[in-house]
Amino acid sequence: MKYRIDEELVRLGQERMGDAPVEGFVYGQGLREPELMLIGEAPGEFELVDGIPFIGRAGRELMASLDSIGLTRDDVYITSAVRSRPYRWGTKRERDGTMTERKYNRTPNAREILAHAPLLDDELANVRPKIIVTLGNIGLQRLLGKSVKVGDVHGQLLQAPIQHLADLSDKKYSLTESPRTIIPTFHPASVFYNPKLREAVKQDWQAIGEALRQFGGTGFDRQ
Ligand code: URA
Repeated sequence: MKYRIDEELVRLGQERMGDAPVEGFVYGQGLREPELMLIGEAPGEFELVDGIPFIGRAGRELMASLDSIGLTRDDVYITSAVRSRPYRWGTKRERDGTMTERKYNRTPNAREILAHAPLLDDELANVRPKIIVTLGNIGLQRLLGKSVKVGDVHGQLLQAPIQHLADLSDKKYSLTESPRTIIPTFHPASVFYNPKLREAVKQDWQAIGEALRQFGGTGFDRQ
């Protein structure tokens, strides 16, 4: 059975975002009891067109990683820290030399992540994966705080309480009572900027596959 957050939460997320330079809205996608819950950064230009998370270039990398451990998009729940596309304006030189203004993707900031925190909190409370996989620092730090870096913990199986907003008016995160099971890895786009990471990403996904095999049945995170 699929999980989809309530429209009222979507409305709340949009209201909390105020006039931040973001656009559109992409729902988390997948089963209520998936093998994995994948947490990215925010949708980009392509995701906005079809309303499906991770369908751009990074998405193709991610699907190859899932395939390497025998999974497809249908086996997982995919979401992100922010559900609208953060953009900035920039200029692009066209083939004929003219300059045009266009929107570029950018990383969401702390204020935007806080604005959409109730949405991810809801998914974390209701979707029951065997393991949570964070993709890059944004997803990782949303759950475990700013002091944790993907370069230090990627591929490790962590069991820890996670950050959430205990009250919607809170400006700071507090920790959940029960721990969750998380294996952090790099964002799939990271290999475009740093091809040397490709081997580490491959090994992280093997570790994720191994953890799923070892604890197959109900998994760690479905207690
Ligand atoms: N990056 C993300 O974090 N999510 C997407 O859907 C696409 C790129």
